[in-house]
Amino acid sequence: MPALVLLGAQWGDEGKGKATDLLGGSVDYVVRYQGGNNAGHTVVVGDQKYALHLLPSGILSPGCTPVIGNGVVVDPSVLLSELSGLNERGVDTSKLLLSGNAHIITPYNVTVDKVTERFLGKRKIGTTGRGIGPTYADKINRVGIRVQDLYDESILTQKVEAALDAKNQMLTKLYNRRAIAVEQVVGELLGYADKLAPYVTDTVLVLNEALDQDKVVLFEGGQGTLLDIDHGTYPFVTSSNPTAGGACTGAGVGPTKISRVIGILKAYTTRVGAGPFPTELFDEDGEALRRIGGERGVTTGRDRRCGWFDAVIARYATRVNGLTDFFLTKLDVLTGWEQIPVCVAYEIDGRRVEELPYSQTDFHHAKPVYEMLPGWSEDITGAKSFSDLPKNAQAYVKALEEMSGAPISAIGVGPGRDETIEINSFL
Ligand code: GDP
Ligand code: IMO
Ligand code: MG
Repeated sequence: MPALVLLGAQWGDEGKGKATDLLGGSVDYVVRYQGGNNAGHTVVVGDQKYALHLLPSGILSPGCTPVIGNGVVVDPSVLLSELSGLNERGVDTSKLLLSGNAHIITPYNVTVDKVTERFLGKRKIGTTGRGIGPTYADKINRVGIRVQDLYDESILTQKVEAALDAKNQMLTKLYNRRAIAVEQVVGELLGYADKLAPYVTDTVLVLNEALDQDKVVLFEGGQGTLLDIDHGTYPFVTSSNPTAGGACTGAGVGPTKISRVIGILKAYTTRVGAGPFPTELFDEDGEALRRIGGERGVTTGRDRRCGWFDAVIARYATRVNGLTDFFLTKLDVLTGWEQIPVCVAYEIDGRRVEELPYSQTDFHHAKPVYEMLPGWSEDITGAKSFSDLPKNAQAYVKALEEMSGAPISAIGVGPGRDETIEINSFL
């Protein structure tokens, strides 16, 4: 069973970094397959806290080879500063592999992200401003710059010219900004070429050969199912496919190789940026979840919107990803509530709806139908096995499992590596 996908089952920030790091010690490769430095994955090892944006969380496990796949969009300056930041803290990053087919986030993609958001005004998506959407747009428009282009100055110049042609018209005539000079961009990008060269390779070949040799490969998603460009709450989504199929296209590995798909699921719900969120709380409970859960964005520092657990979304994540397991995180944050509401269905224009509506209008009108589950007051951060949990916490987990449609195979009771209850082994 060599290939596992680990992905976000909600709107991101479910604790993918912690879960990946936990498995990192037992796998040979950890691969990012989509997204870019819009991600912020936190890993806590002992008293050390790491915030990873582009690098796979496996980089903190010495035996593991971290891979940035072809489906990722890479800002070279961010990648290099992340690498040097880790080196300064004594982390060996020399095994990193970077796909030559990955697309580069250029400085003009970042500019376009910021100006289009500003132009959207009240209708903005609330992006991370890292150039993610415009870089994927260039990829699909076939005017993207790839990592391999850094090694052919003539091709790079032609491609940057082609990309900037239309963008400069837009920037100057529509957005009232200065045009961006081709030479300046080419010069900056060429400056990264030698520094990145040691990592650049054909990662598709490497990963498929590894799988042929029965090595264990873990695919680490960025963002989450509801932020997926196809399956999320469009248009309030990111511009890639965090869902399980994205691992195949974003790493060049066939679906027949994937043996397990693990959905990371927070015991409540959070969201950053704009868009519908049926269980969102605007009262002191929402404030308490934010405070106790430390719900502040790792990438942008924005406060996360907080709400109760939504089983409709969890069921949807099980379906579109073919989830085999859940890893339930942050159960400890719910300690202290007398009763915990869980959304089991929606009411939409007077009708009870059990599954996620495909219509954006319906989803905007969805009101949560809550079931109240009894809470617990005992500290659970030291729990090592399921039976260590108070009865009501056990019942909460069992109820979520029943509603969500896949077994909960691990439970997070704190941010640290060892603050985890393993129920079924993932490997
Ligand atoms: P990611 O983007 O999915 O990797 O998640 P983030 O790192 O953005 O946000 C998750 C936050 O929750 C981080 O601060 C983690 O350290 C923390 N975390 C992860 N699992 C747990 C858990 O089980 N309990 C608690 N209290 N914190 C956790
Ligand atoms: P991790 O991997 C939470 C959100 C942004 C915005 C939308 C589009 O840490 O879970 P983008 O910059 O991607 O074009 O923004 O997606 N978003 C995330 N929200 N966690 C993330 O990553 C996110 N990455 C993007 O807030 O609403
Ligand atoms: Mg995050």
